[in-house]
Amino acid sequence: MADYLNEYSMHTATCGQLRASDVGRQVTMCGWAWHNRDHGGLIFIDLRDRTGYTQIVVDPDCVSAEDFACAEHIGREYVLRVVGTVRERAADAVNPAMATGEIEVLASELEVLNTSVTPPFSIEDGIETDETTRMKWRYLDLRRPEMYANIELRHRVMQAMRRALDERGFVEVETPILANSTPEGARDYIVPSRPNPGKFYALPQSPQQFKQMLMAGGIERYFQIARCFRDEDLRADRQPEFTQVDIEMSFVTEDDVMTMMEGVMHEVFAAVGLDLEVPLQRMPYAEAMERYGNDRPDVRFGMELHDITSIVRDSGFKVFSSVAQSGGVVKCINAKGAGDWSRGDVEKLAAIAEANGAKGMAWIAFTTGGEEKSPIIKFFSDEEFAALKAEMDVEPGDLLLFAADAPAVANAVLSALRLHMADALDVPREGHALLWVVDFPMFRYDEDEKKYAAEHHPFSKVVDADVERMESDPLAVKSYAYDIVMDGYEVGGGSIRIHNAEEQRRVLRVLGLADEQIDEKFGHLVHALELGTPPHGGIALGLDRLVMLLAGKDSIRDVIAFPKTSSASDPMTGAPNEVTARQLKEVDLRLL
Ligand code: AMO
Ligand code: AMP
Repeated sequence: MADYLNEYSMHTATCGQLRASDVGRQVTMCGWAWHNRDHGGLIFIDLRDRTGYTQIVVDPDCVSAEDFACAEHIGREYVLRVVGTVRERAADAVNPAMATGEIEVLASELEVLNTSVTPPFSIEDGIETDETTRMKWRYLDLRRPEMYANIELRHRVMQAMRRALDERGFVEVETPILANSTPEGARDYIVPSRPNPGKFYALPQSPQQFKQMLMAGGIERYFQIARCFRDEDLRADRQPEFTQVDIEMSFVTEDDVMTMMEGVMHEVFAAVGLDLEVPLQRMPYAEAMERYGNDRPDVRFGMELHDITSIVRDSGFKVFSSVAQSGGVVKCINAKGAGDWSRGDVEKLAAIAEANGAKGMAWIAFTTGGEEKSPIIKFFSDEEFAALKAEMDVEPGDLLLFAADAPAVANAVLSALRLHMADALDVPREGHALLWVVDFPMFRYDEDEKKYAAEHHPFSKVVDADVERMESDPLAVKSYAYDIVMDGYEVGGGSIRIHNAEEQRRVLRVLGLADEQIDEKFGHLVHALELGTPPHGGIALGLDRLVMLLAGKDSIRDVIAFPKTSSASDPMTGAPNEVTARQLKEVDLRLL
């Protein structure tokens, strides 16, 4: 960070900057009184700002009587300006754990710039204060060094992104927030339009349609650090408004987009002191589902899913053989190190399986003492049991967990159990692991809506070889779509887009839209495709998730200055709020 102290501010040194080499310097410092100690006449104040903290010594012999009296009444979080001289600490007072621990500042002047009532929680790292309290007084939470570090890390990542993209010829363009609906699979946030009674804008779920219009407009390489709005169920990695690094390029293949992104990510990692080895591994979607049970695998540890359907097809254990013979799959993971768990603890895992759709959770434990425990072993023949042990590489101390179901359910169940067992067994997951997941299906079947939906979004291009069976066998059709996965999170996704109007119409028809609806909702896009839109593709990175992982956090709320709670509200400002009857009337609305 540039040395920002110059003629534009009151202070000449930050609270984190002074070292032994500064001894003798006369400095002016500003910050917050963090900890105060009165040591029989001498007053010590830890003065804190965003860069760190410095010990200030107030000696009655070195300041005016008035300033000393003032120092005696300083409370937590008072804002101070201190003038003083940097001096070496006595050998026994040196604090090696503190960046400024070799020195202290002997005050000659002290001024209270503002007082503070007692803060509602302690401004310390590692506090246990509940998150709603921290969010209500977010400005106090932001004063904590670990929160500032997250915010600064986010800034570094954004700067590095901008630099890397600028160097590659990308132009930063802002797109509208008051927009029309873009289908990314969530509900829209809608805003009434006063001059157009009964009409609404939708806040963009992503700038997807605009970035495609920019390609139609010949911008060729676009990026934006874009705010997106999605009304969906919130989780630790999902906020109602979040930020994407949104990117689009013309005249490219999927390989070009991925290679460009790898270069940018390499530079971003370097900017925060990490080495990212590129090119990244590319794993087909089908393989990710097969081996990890989901499309965002955490590949930093094994415990992979094994398909044992063929081993148990004729098993005496009817649960397995009937699933195997009726088109389902039987899959298994080996949780090494859990073989001595009590029966009760193992049975508790069934709740996780059931929450993911399982009808039960069979298991076999191999104790370190060489015993085999399980409610199902008795049903296996010796050959089946030997084949199972060989497939699962069984040793004493292992616990096998099984799911027998439709492939999607078996995968969901074992993927959840795999992550749970990795946590429970403290399986090491150090560093970061990034990979591409590629060859996504174009469509999925939405059981609730009873129709096909786009797996990514309806603008992704169907692979050439599959175009002809788009209508006859939608679920077998793949798209030129790719996700970038980091440490078990989807941190980005994109695709090559359709640039042929008729192909776009065909995809929208598979999704159940009639031609009139296509014209009404997507007419602008389809027209642009008829008017010389170049081939194009792109990607969007979830900035919040990326920074969360780089910061080693497990909630994106920790890397967003003013996040919302799980009920999409802001305890600090009270948003969302009621509006007046007059405001409602102006936009022609009445509450039910
Ligand atoms: P997608 O919907 O996959 O793609 O979003 C891209 C990335 O944005 C992040 N993300 C979120 N982060 C926080 N809170 C949320 N609610 C949230 N939703 C998504 C994820 C995700 O990978 N227009 C396409 C991109 C493209 O095709 O170019 C899109 O928005 O990290
Ligand atoms: P049951 O014969 O129903 O008593 O089940 C025997 C064992 O198989 C129990 O441990 C069940 O939890 C387990 N089980 C039942 N259904 C399934 C399934 N679909 N997949 C995996 N295990 C199952």
